[in-house]
Amino acid sequence: MSPMKWFYDHLKKYRLPMAFGLLLTTLLSFLAIVNPIISGKIVDDVIKGEQKDLLPYLLLIILGVTITRGLLRYFSQVIYEKCSQGVLYTMRDTVYRKLLQEDFAFYNKNRTGDLMSRQTGDMDAIRHFVAYVIYTIYENFLLLLFAIIMMFTVNVKLAIAMILVLPFTAAATMKQSKEVKPAFGRIRQQFSVLNTAVQENISGNRVVKAFAKEDFEIEKFNKENDAYKEAELDASKIWRRYVPVFEFLSSVLTVILLLYGGYLVISGEMSLGNLVTINGYLWMLTNPLRMAGWWVNDVQRFITSVEKIHATYSAEPDVKKPTRAIEKKQLDGTVEFRNVSYQADDEDIIQNISFKVEKGQTVGIIGSTGSGKSTIMNLLCRFYDVTEGEVLVDGINVKELDLYDLRANIGMAMQDVFLFSDTIEGNIAYGKPDCPFQSVQTAAIMADANHFIKGMPDGYDTIVGERGVGLSGGQKQRISLARALLKDPSILILDDTTSAVDMETETYIQTQLSRIEKECTKFIIAYRISSIKDADLILVLDRGRIIEQGTHEQLVKNNGYYATVFQHQYGALETITEREV
Ligand SMILES: Nc1ncnc2c1ncn2[C@@H]1O[C@H](COP(=O)(O)OP(=O)(O)O)[C@@H](O)[C@H]1O
Ligand SMILES: [Mg+2]
Repeated sequence: MSPMKWFYDHLKKYRLPMAFGLLLTTLLSFLAIVNPIISGKIVDDVIKGEQKDLLPYLLLIILGVTITRGLLRYFSQVIYEKCSQGVLYTMRDTVYRKLLQEDFAFYNKNRTGDLMSRQTGDMDAIRHFVAYVIYTIYENFLLLLFAIIMMFTVNVKLAIAMILVLPFTAAATMKQSKEVKPAFGRIRQQFSVLNTAVQENISGNRVVKAFAKEDFEIEKFNKENDAYKEAELDASKIWRRYVPVFEFLSSVLTVILLLYGGYLVISGEMSLGNLVTINGYLWMLTNPLRMAGWWVNDVQRFITSVEKIHATYSAEPDVKKPTRAIEKKQLDGTVEFRNVSYQADDEDIIQNISFKVEKGQTVGIIGSTGSGKSTIMNLLCRFYDVTEGEVLVDGINVKELDLYDLRANIGMAMQDVFLFSDTIEGNIAYGKPDCPFQSVQTAAIMADANHFIKGMPDGYDTIVGERGVGLSGGQKQRISLARALLKDPSILILDDTTSAVDMETETYIQTQLSRIEKECTKFIIAYRISSIKDADLILVLDRGRIIEQGTHEQLVKNNGYYATVFQHQYGALETITEREV
């Protein structure tokens, strides 16, 4: 679908009110020709013709037309405003839904600042177009047309003399809009850069502070701010250059009107009233031409905004919902990876991974940073799709399962904990908003979070700031664990979830996890052997491959990487205990 067709699909719903609005605008423009005619009549018939009794009627007409025009303006404006807000509402809604459907790859590629500008600045350009640009261009086109027609009906010679000036105005307008276009392009581009700079600095302000880089950031920002100011000034310079040109051309029109029109009046070819009438049409002639440069720019801006929004959201997510999904609301939780490989940007992230877990079993995954542990879990949840091989849950390829059913059955505490600015209760109950408080608390108890939550000023009603500001790393991890547990999932994934809690807490959590009543397959990613040594299957990863797999005993016997890490960690632990003794 082309961007414009996409836009029209949103406007379509409002085409009737829009058409009605344009009808009002047509009337409005048409009425603009009345008052100059009446003014001419006042001069010819009332002042020169001395038909004084006509005056009240003529004034009444002027008053009537003015009031009607005012009313038409009011109602048409209301209509355009309503339509534009309506279009904006549905468009924002579609875009937002699409935004939520996009996969991880989309968010890796797109910058938050850019996505925000799509939803704000670009949306506003579209609103401006529907609310203002459409009718303004239409109205001014009619005004120009009516003014020319009326001038010809009044006096052909004078009309021709005046119209001779129009090509010059049109040429100036065209030249101006050509110059203005790149200048405005630069403004928008620079504005986007400025936005991104602000956005990154706000979300990254802790890092900025920690590294005492405020001065550096201020300088960086000032550079962009300066560039933005320059871009705005450049555009206004163009405007400044053209204002005198347009003023001059308008004056030329007035001069022609007075000199040539005056001559025609004196020579008796035209009445004084006619001169007044044509004078009344002058603004209808000059205004559209003078402003056209701006509207060309507005239209341009609208088109780019629609194209940008459409381009950002027309890309279908790589992870697609199956056309005919196998319905399985409740999964058992057996998981199998068959020769799974995953490549991103032509780089092998994981290669040839195969393993099988029965329901209720626990899998431990260990390996150095960047070895692909999180990726394996992302493939299981279909945050990415495998490039080769198959991921099976309950013996079904995950690509054939309904995407939401699959994810509804998985409880995941991600490595990078994200908390919403909401209460702690709201954060834990995120997956099950209607569940009773008792369940929230039970989940928190299992995650060893109940204790510290109760110690907070408002307990479970404490609002955690953006991204959980005010909580320690370990506290955030435990809330995220409670959130995953509350889902009562068939597959539970703990990605580095206990890395920031002490050993004692970890042991407590492990005991709790082993008490989960429902048979739940668990994946535990950890650096500490203690976190995974009781697992039914341990996978040791290195550079995207499984280098060892088996139970703790088997792996220790194996005397490979795992055994080394084990000796390292437990050896260290023994030394500490010895020293303490
Ligand atoms: N979608 C992706 N695009 C590009 N690189 C990726 C993608 N997913 C993972 N990687 C890269 O693959 C490697 C493994 O990542 P990850 O699974 O997060 O490692 P781990 O969890 O073991 O620390 C990292 O180098 C990471 O940058
Ligand atoms: Mg990871």
